[in-house]
Amino acid sequence: MTDVSLIDGKAIAADVRTEVASAVAELKSAHDYAPTLAVVLVGEDPASQVYVRNKHKFTRESGMRSLEHKFSEDVSEDSVVKLVRSLNADPAVDGILVQLPLPKHINTDRVIGEIDPAKDVDGLTEISAGRLSLGREGLRPCTPVGSVILAKKALDFHGESLSGKHCVIVGRSILVGKPAALLFLEENCTVTIAHSRTQDLAYVCRSADILVAAVGRPLMVKGDWIKNGAVVIDVGINRVPNTNPKAKRPTKLVGDVDFKAAKENALAITPVPGGVGPMTIACLLRNTVLAACARRDWDVPEVLL
Ligand code: GUN
Repeated sequence: MTDVSLIDGKAIAADVRTEVASAVAELKSAHDYAPTLAVVLVGEDPASQVYVRNKHKFTRESGMRSLEHKFSEDVSEDSVVKLVRSLNADPAVDGILVQLPLPKHINTDRVIGEIDPAKDVDGLTEISAGRLSLGREGLRPCTPVGSVILAKKALDFHGESLSGKHCVIVGRSILVGKPAALLFLEENCTVTIAHSRTQDLAYVCRSADILVAAVGRPLMVKGDWIKNGAVVIDVGINRVPNTNPKAKRPTKLVGDVDFKAAKENALAITPVPGGVGPMTIACLLRNTVLAACARRDWDVPEVLL
């Protein structure tokens, strides 16, 4: 029997990718054009390498073109900026993603700031962030969009919606916490942003109908911080030692939430891995199609609306 309290991010992401693939097929037949995503990777960070490999695979599977640009760890900031500028100028490139984190000697703000906002499929430029905060149309950051989709699906299953619910976001990062707060606000949630300095974090979390954990601290959110019937979206992906003596690998991935204990109270909860993670790439592909359409003034295929 399927576990209804488990939010299957893998399956929901596969559905989003199917929609993207059908939108791409529509653009190909209407305009004889396949959108193109360019990914820039600097250095050898193992987690980033896995993300980039998966992005490449799923971009191609959806029928789009995927370009990869790899630099060694010691590349100069100017060389990365030069590449971003050439991708901006290339009319055949619809989306640009610079994989983060960049090495310490490179100014991330400068590199991201160089991306043409029309191609900012990560939603990280000042223009994209400004548009989101003003409630204007624009490209939205992928992980927060994925989090909203998962929360919506979970509530929808129980005949409920996000409107009017109290959404507590733990974490205030530019990549996830802040944009997620604005996106849940757009869904008419009452939003609280909590963080490491929040007094009585447990109390604040217990008031959440929707709890989004995005702090990057393994198992920080305890089971008894979850209100009965809350929806829990765990954005954390933390690699920790595997203490199970029978484990095949020395490390494993856990979220920011103590999953087993939280599941006892939650209406629905995302697992790690297999929750929010797969949604990020699916939403990136979706953004690439949206960017391609906006840049060319084409109608967005209905399946993506
Ligand atoms: N590294 C981890 N997550 C992300 C993301 O969403 N975008 C970028 N650019 N880098 C990341």
